[in-house]
Amino acid sequence: MSPSGPERPAEGGGIRLQKVLAAAGLGSRRACEELIEAGRVTVNDERVTGQGRRVHPETDVIRVDTMRINTAPGLVYLALNKPRGYVTAMSDPEGRPTVGDLVAGRAERLFHVGRLDAETEGLLILTNDGELAHRLAHPSYEVPKTYLAEVLGPIARDVGRRLREGVELDDGIVRVDSFRLIDSSANRVMVEIVLHEGRKHVVRRALTAVGHPVQRLVRTSVGPVHLGSQKPGRLRPLSREELAGVFALVGM
Ligand code: URA
Repeated sequence: MSPSGPERPAEGGGIRLQKVLAAAGLGSRRACEELIEAGRVTVNDERVTGQGRRVHPETDVIRVDTMRINTAPGLVYLALNKPRGYVTAMSDPEGRPTVGDLVAGRAERLFHVGRLDAETEGLLILTNDGELAHRLAHPSYEVPKTYLAEVLGPIARDVGRRLREGVELDDGIVRVDSFRLIDSSANRVMVEIVLHEGRKHVVRRALTAVGHPVQRLVRTSVGPVHLGSQKPGRLRPLSREELAGVFALVGM
């Protein structure tokens, strides 16, 4: 094997840790050796300080300064800005545009983490890591999601309090973690809501229940992942910090 070529684990032996870290984008092999020497790297929660350590990048949990690093070359973690009008599905029997159309060129079999309504825009995480996708979407991990909603106003003073205390929907109470009035001009009221549940149309239903039907809805964050200035229809890999934050959130 050429020194720069992909290295497969020797039978039972793994790949040198500094090489795996360098391949994951943490710097040159020398820089990665320095991280190891400085005691900043753990493998399966065990601190490594010597240079001889070999690892299995597909299965070992490798962290630098507690930040989990994705070392499995086959796993991808992507943020999509889902445009309005796209169905959250990989294909649609009725022929509507789907999220699948936006990732059609990719070789991996991607899962979308949770769903956005067809009319909702914004951040959708896509991955081929089934365990992470499952945990992120599971209510028990209480992953906070932030939405920006344009609603019909004017906004009554007690709306935030009512949403935080809980409003009755036909499938049970919904409580938001936070509510903020972002803008309230003559013909436009923008509010931001953070909540950690994923029932169908939950934000639209909650806002309608307090008298403010939604005109436009955008998801701007999922846990530590933010939409920022990402354009509709664009896909980007999660940053190392975002990915480490997501793993931490769901205990991986
Ligand atoms: N709540 C909604 O009403 N719609 C979404 O797409 C997501 C949350």
